Amino acid sequence: MSFDMRIVSKPLFLVAAILALVLAIPSIALASGYNATETIVATNTAVYPVHGGYTSTTNKCKNCHAVHLATGTYVLTRGNSAAEACDVCHGIGGLPAAPEVVMNSYGHGLDTTETTNSITLYAPDDTTPTPYSVSQGSWGCDKCHSVHAAVTLIVKLAGFSSTKLLKADPNPGKSYYLWNPSLIDTSTRETTQNLTAWCSACHNANIGGHKDPKTVSLNGVDTTVYGHDTSVTAAATDAATGYALDVSPDNNINSGPQCEQCHALDDPGYSYPHSSSGPSLLKGVDSGKTNLDKVCVSCHNTSSLP
Ligand code: HEC
Ligand code: HEC
Ligand code: HEC
Ligand code: HEC
Ligand code: HEC
Ligand code: HEC
Repeated sequence: MSFDMRIVSKPLFLVAAILALVLAIPSIALASGYNATETIVATNTAVYPVHGGYTSTTNKCKNCHAVHLATGTYVLTRGNSAAEACDVCHGIGGLPAAPEVVMNSYGHGLDTTETTNSITLYAPDDTTPTPYSVSQGSWGCDKCHSVHAAVTLIVKLAGFSSTKLLKADPNPGKSYYLWNPSLIDTSTRETTQNLTAWCSACHNANIGGHKDPKTVSLNGVDTTVYGHDTSVTAAATDAATGYALDVSPDNNINSGPQCEQCHALDDPGYSYPHSSSGPSLLKGVDSGKTNLDKVCVSCHNTSSLP
C-alpha cells in the first residue's frame, strides 16, 4: 500500500475489513447476495460500468446492494456506514478496475478525535448563515459524489474528462458566494466553472479578493474575515523559480492562486482532495504546522518583500 501510517485508525480498520471481504468473496460468491467482484466490470460496457447506466437489461444494483442477504447495515451495502460503502471496490486491495481512494485526516477523512455520531462536523471556513454541517457518523464519499451517477445531480467541471460523479450541489440550500449550480448545462451536465469554484461550495469563504468581507463562525461567534486573494484562474508563475509573477495586492484585480496551487494536488502516493501527506492538504508541511512558511516562500520571493 502507498499510504504511510500517519493515517488514522479508520484505514487500519478498513484494511482488516477489506482483507476479510477479499478472503470471503471467492468462497461464498455463489451463495452471496452480491455479484461476484470478477463479473462487475466485464458484463457491462457503459460509460460508467458500475455507476449509473442502469436499465432493464443490466445487472448492476447487485454489485453494491444485496436485496435479502446484505452483509452490512448501511442501505443493503457491504458496509455499516456511509464511510465504508465504497471500500469493497475503492479501498486498499479493492477491485483492480476501481481507482484506489482512501481518505485520511489530512484530507477529507475524520481524525481519531472525531469518532462519535452525535458530534456535528463543519466544513472549515464556510460562511454563515447555514455553514455546511453533517453528523460525523454520516460523513462519507457520498457527500461529494453521487454514486448512482444520477444525471440531474452530477456535474462535469471545466477541464475534466468525466464527471467523477461529483455532485452539482454538494452543499444544498446554501446561498453560494461563487459556485453556481444553475450555470450547469442541463443536458450535457457540463459547466464552465472549475474545481476551485466547486470547492468553494463548502468552503465559501476561501474564494475571492483579500478585501472581500465574509462572515464565518469563529469559536461560535459570527465574525467578519478576509482571506488571501484566491481566484478560479491559476496565478501565473515564473517557470524557473516558481515564484508568482504578480504579487501586487493594490491593483484591485484578484490574480490570486487556485486552491490546488497552495493545497497539494500532486502529493505522491496520496489523492487530492481525499488524502495528503501534510495537514490541511499542504504538501511538505509538518504535522504541527510549524513550517507553514514553506507554502508562502514557494511563491513569494522573500528578498523582494517590502
Ligand atoms: C456502486 C455501488 C452502487 C450501485 C451499483 C447501486 N447503488 Fe444504490 N446506493 C449505493 C450507496 C453507497 C448508497 C448510499 C449513499 C447514497 O445515498 O448516496 C445507495 C443508496 C441507494 C438507495 C437509498 C437512497 C436514499 O434515498 O437513501 C436506493 C433506493 C438505491 N441505492 C437503489 C439502487 C438501485 C435500484 C440500484 C441499481 C439500479 C443501485 N442502487 C445501484 C451504492 C450503489
Ligand atoms: C470533499 C469531497 C470529496 C469526498 C468526501 C470524496 N471525494 Fe472523491 N473526488 C473528489 C474530487 C474533487 C475529485 C476529482 C479530483 C481530481 O480529479 O482532481 C474526486 C475524484 C475521485 C475519484 C476519481 C479518481 C481518479 O483517479 O480519477 C474516485 C474514484 C473517488 N473520488 C472516489 C472517492 C471515494 C471512494 C471517496 C470516499 C472514500 C471519496 N471519493 C470522497 C471529491 C471528494
Ligand atoms: C462494486 C464496485 C464499486 C463500488 C462499491 C463503488 N465503486 Fe466507484 N467505481 C468502480 C469502478 C469499477 C470504477 C471505474 C469504472 C467506472 O468509471 O465506472 C469506479 C469509478 C468511480 C469514480 C470515478 C468516476 C470517473 O468519472 O472517473 C468515482 C468518483 C467513484 N467510483 C466513486 C465511488 C463512490 C463514492 C462509491 C461509494 C458510494 C463507489 N464508487 C463505490 C467500482 C465501484
Ligand atoms: C461537501 C462539502 C465539501 C466539499 C465540496 C469540499 N470540502 Fe473540504 N472539508 C469539508 C469538511 C466537512 C471538512 C472537515 C473534515 C473534518 O473535520 O474531518 C473539510 C476539510 C477541508 C480542509 C481542512 C483539512 C484540515 O484538517 O485542516 C481542506 C484544506 C479542504 N477541506 C479543502 C477542500 C478542497 C481543496 C476542496 C475541493 C477539491 C474541498 N475541500 C471540497 C467539506 C467539503
Ligand atoms: C495562497 C495559498 C492558499 C490558497 C490559494 C488557498 N489556501 Fe486554503 N490554506 C492555505 C494555508 C497556508 C492554510 C493553513 C492555514 C493555517 O493553518 O492557519 C489553509 C487552510 C485551509 C483550510 C483549513 C481551515 C483554515 O482556514 O485554516 C481550508 C478548509 C482551506 N484552506 C480551503 C481552501 C480552499 C477551498 C481553497 C480554494 C477555494 C483554498 N483553501 C485556497 C493556503 C491557501
Ligand atoms: C501559489 C502562489 C502563492 C502562494 C503559495 C502564496 N501566495 Fe500570497 N500572493 C500570491 C499572489 C499571486 C498574490 C497577488 C494576488 C493579487 O494581486 O490579486 C499574493 C498576495 C499576497 C498578499 C497581499 C494580499 C492579497 O491577497 O493580495 C499577502 C499578504 C500574501 N500574499 C501572503 C501570503 C502568505 C502569508 C502565504 C503563505 C501562507 C502566501 N501568500 C502564499 C501568490 C501566492
